[in-house]
Amino acid sequence: MTRRDEVKAYWDRRIGSWDDSSYDRGHGHGLMGKLRSSVDARMRLALTLLAPHAQGKTVLDLGCGGGRVAVEMVRSLGAAKAHGIDISPAAIEKGNALAKRAEVGDRVTFEVGTVERDTFPRADITLGLGLLDWLNDEETERLLTALEGRRIVLSYSEEDGSLAEIIHRFYLIYPLRWFGGAVSARHHRRAQIAAWMEKHGFTPFTVVDDKAARFGKLVHNLDAGS
Ligand SMILES: C[S@@+](CC[C@H](N)C(=O)[O-])C[C@H]1O[C@@H](n2cnc3c(N)ncnc32)[C@H](O)[C@@H]1O
Repeated sequence: MTRRDEVKAYWDRRIGSWDDSSYDRGHGHGLMGKLRSSVDARMRLALTLLAPHAQGKTVLDLGCGGGRVAVEMVRSLGAAKAHGIDISPAAIEKGNALAKRAEVGDRVTFEVGTVERDTFPRADITLGLGLLDWLNDEETERLLTALEGRRIVLSYSEEDGSLAEIIHRFYLIYPLRWFGGAVSARHHRRAQIAAWMEKHGFTPFTVVDDKAARFGKLVHNLDAGS
């Protein structure tokens, strides 16, 4: 099995419970609850950031998972259309069901596909929340090259030495490898993210910190040219 097939199989198994527990079920008080609440905080932070930019716009959501962000861009922020792409068919099924329930199925569409490609559908704003964590350096470089010239909002998990980040590594990331798989999520240093943003011309860019999102950071160039 290739690494990409393993990522797909991993997310096909996990997306249902990950999405429900991150966004729906209440997060609980334990360690996992804290990590899950940071995912919800990351989405809320992204939506707050995007609110002044979304009205009437088209949105492309890469690694869209169960479609939360794509649906909220249209339902709550007034985007004209959103299209999500995800490697996991289970994620796309969930996204389609959510869009239908939210009665935005005519404006929010999804497709099964990987982000390892050189062209993407046109969009005013391109998002990728939780995506860079699952790409290696080569895949990230290819993605950023394909997205050059766009307005982007990406999240990444920052290697910041915080307790939450260390716990995330030990409980959620390393075991994936220990149990024999090639799948592993990444944390990045801020300097690496900044170097990529510069190299691919996403300037000026901003890194957004939020206490509730913990080591989950957003980087965007929404203010470029405005
Ligand atoms: C942490 S989840 C985030 C989902 C969603 N963006 C959110 O914030 O709720 C990461 C998603 O990236 C997708 N993914 C990982 N590698 C991918 C790839 N190479 N191409 C497309 N999707 C990918 C996974 O299937 C998963 O749904």
